[in-house]
Amino acid sequence: MLRQLPRYNACGAVVRGRGVVKRIGILTGGGDAPGLNAVIRAVVLTARNRYNWEVVGIREGYDGLLHGAPTVGLPEEQVRDLLPRGGTILGAVNRGNPFSRIVQRADGTASVIDVSQEAIRRMDDLGLDALVAAGGDGTMSIAQHLVDLGARIVGVPKTIDNDLNGTDVTFGFDSALLTATEALDKLQTTAESHHRVMVLEVMGRDAGWIALHTGVAGGADAILIPEIPFDIDVVVRKLEAVRRAGRRYSLIVVAEGAAPRGGDQHYYIQARGSAAGRLGGIGYIVGNLLSERTQAEVRVTVLGHVQRGGQPTPRDRWLATRFGHAVVQLIAEEKWGYMAGLRGTEIVPVRMSDAIGKPKRVAPDGAQVPMARDLGIVFG
Ligand code: F6P
Repeated sequence: MLRQLPRYNACGAVVRGRGVVKRIGILTGGGDAPGLNAVIRAVVLTARNRYNWEVVGIREGYDGLLHGAPTVGLPEEQVRDLLPRGGTILGAVNRGNPFSRIVQRADGTASVIDVSQEAIRRMDDLGLDALVAAGGDGTMSIAQHLVDLGARIVGVPKTIDNDLNGTDVTFGFDSALLTATEALDKLQTTAESHHRVMVLEVMGRDAGWIALHTGVAGGADAILIPEIPFDIDVVVRKLEAVRRAGRRYSLIVVAEGAAPRGGDQHYYIQARGSAAGRLGGIGYIVGNLLSERTQAEVRVTVLGHVQRGGQPTPRDRWLATRFGHAVVQLIAEEKWGYMAGLRGTEIVPVRMSDAIGKPKRVAPDGAQVPMARDLGIVFG
């Protein structure tokens, strides 16, 4: 239902826009990332101050939309203090794809059904003029398919892995990088004391951005990433060269998605039914191989979800705020199916269809890997 609202905002400024209520929804899909709350805050403040629109939060991503979870009113007071807060006040889940909902039958079997029309109806029932979907590839793909069916959705790109196309960087990456680099710095001091080889496993399912940047920032000797299948003997030779040169410790960063040449990625939880497997543990495999093949004492640290938690860095807060501000303008321009992206220093509209389907990966021959090699880092 559309209601007429005053055309002045709280600061007394003239409100732009069409002068009718815009009630917009926002959801956070997929895994969380530091900076999501800063996006929510920027969307609410921009929608309110610039356009006088109301914003409601949808809990638990698309799953909440489908299950009719109660929405969250997002007045300004609710979001004012959100900048330093990690996670997402709206909750996030990896399930809830309206195009493939798993339904358990009474006989114990399961089937997959398309409930996308239900999702669109629910947006109408909530009186939403538009929806902001903040998320990674999965969230954007669902948004794009709903847009194809006529839904009014715009996107904000998010992932700590930094592997979404259409944007130079996603928020969450810088915060994860800080956590991982601090960990590597701490491992360095104890590695030096004990003359050990330290293996640090970081996140990065399809792309090695966190591993690459952490390894370079923390002075690693080897970086193993999904884009470059590794040969452990190359790492062994590097460790021997380090020892010969007189340094008695080494640092190795491994992305969770890295795999040996001719081998497979390692899952610590296997896929079961509709539940995807969970990557992790390649750090232990690498540690074990190095221990077998060298005289070195090896220790392994798997950083895991620590990288997703905690406060966003100032850089992530800044990027998340710019994205949140820009996505409200995409709504004002009715650019359905677009997301905000960072190109150089500019925030630009990017078609979601150009961002999804293929992860943005580290190019083995791009500028960064050769630079790291020139610094003496091996990639296995
Ligand atoms: O996509 C980000 C990511 O952090 C991946 O690097 C990791 O494999 C995955 O999320 C973990 O997801 P979950 O929270 O479902 O375990």
